[in-house]
Amino acid sequence: MSETTGQLWGGRFTEKPDETFAEFNNSLRLDKRLFAADVRASIAHANGLAGAGVLTADEAAAITSGLAQMLALGDADDSIFDGSDAEDVHSFIEGRLIAAIGDTGRKLHTGRSRNDQVATAFRLWLRDEIDRLDELIRLAQASLVNAAERHAEAVLPGYTHLQRAQPVMWAHWCLAYFEMLKRDRERLADARKRVNILPLGSGALAGTGFPFDREAVARELGFDGISANSLDAVSDRDFAVEFASVCSLIMVHLSRLAEDLIIYCSTEFGFVSLSDAVSSGSSLMPQKKNPDALELLRGKSGRVFGNNMALLATLKGLPLAYNKDMQEDKEGVFDTVDTVSISLRAAAIVLENLTVNEVRTREAATKGYLNATELADYLVKKGVPFRTAHETVGRAVLFAIGQGKELHELGVETLREFSPEIGEDVADALNLEATLAAKSTIGGTSPDRVRAALAAAKKYLEN
Ligand code: ARG
Repeated sequence: MSETTGQLWGGRFTEKPDETFAEFNNSLRLDKRLFAADVRASIAHANGLAGAGVLTADEAAAITSGLAQMLALGDADDSIFDGSDAEDVHSFIEGRLIAAIGDTGRKLHTGRSRNDQVATAFRLWLRDEIDRLDELIRLAQASLVNAAERHAEAVLPGYTHLQRAQPVMWAHWCLAYFEMLKRDRERLADARKRVNILPLGSGALAGTGFPFDREAVARELGFDGISANSLDAVSDRDFAVEFASVCSLIMVHLSRLAEDLIIYCSTEFGFVSLSDAVSSGSSLMPQKKNPDALELLRGKSGRVFGNNMALLATLKGLPLAYNKDMQEDKEGVFDTVDTVSISLRAAAIVLENLTVNEVRTREAATKGYLNATELADYLVKKGVPFRTAHETVGRAVLFAIGQGKELHELGVETLREFSPEIGEDVADALNLEATLAAKSTIGGTSPDRVRAALAAAKKYLEN
């Protein structure tokens, strides 16, 4: 191997690579992100080689300390990659090690291929990113809980088809998104199980001829287990697809949250106000305050879905085992990690800083016949079959619309004309508090249930 270029296959070739091809083939500018993971995995590999009797203790020590020094240097300063013409981060590291410690470094790649090496580094890197993302989701969940608690008494019209449906607590809305993010964390934890498997020891595709203790190497790197089939191990990117797809769902959830809030902060709704800190003005219209942070949450989701699709498309036609197509696996995953991370942080900041216009949301929750179902339920409790009650209340609503009044503004006498079952107690049944309190099944929006759900959410966040 040439120490300066990191060229790995000199022997077989008589001609230099074409410059355009070299540029096309080169992935260092992207996969340098795997630097720390690859060095760590290389240290474990060297220890594995020592265990297999391939390296003496002194050789292993020279290699591992050379790698550790490189790691410290690279962690501190990204410029170590500047000017390198190594093909990828793996050849960069090996070339640099040989330059630093001499011929002993040429033994590191024994029993290893870049095929099992890249799969190992990618998994190691992704495992740590998953842990970081999990924490960011937790922080976004905490922001939802804070937003719920800041407006613990606030009521919101709930919608279906974006038509006013039934009133809900604002905190119930917040906790709906909390639940989505909770499932995202579960999915991430589940995907992590399949990420955290060691491919090293699979060689290029067939395994290795050296008595390499893969279990020991796995333990050293914190992997939960080792891959069972070398052909599969070097060509499996399911773990990356799963991750990209979990991230797609995270973005679906953030995008829907954003869309709700974009609607709620419009002048027409006026339910929430965003802080200036997460809004932008218009270069032309002086009055504008635009919800850019939310629109970007919605917009960036598209790219994350695209990364997911791109990975599937890259993999679909590949014969076993490794093919260079697979070098294309990383760019999208890196972008997904970056995009989802900043999106979670942005969502948390928006939530920490928004205020609910409680007067306006309460007023909205009492206009538009959001208590019509309540009246039907009232009739059911008086013995009327639901289908009949539904019909009766439908007629009452139609009448009320004609009068320009709400149901609770019609008065008992008028309401009784629609059904003799209606009594004086109807007024109590129709008021907002009663409507909310009635929804007391587990998972419902009654204030008691929501208080309990909020307490459970806070408890969950402590773990
Ligand atoms: N840089 C490559 C990747 O990211 C690993 C190299 C494997 N190359 C090879 N010719 N076998 O996939």
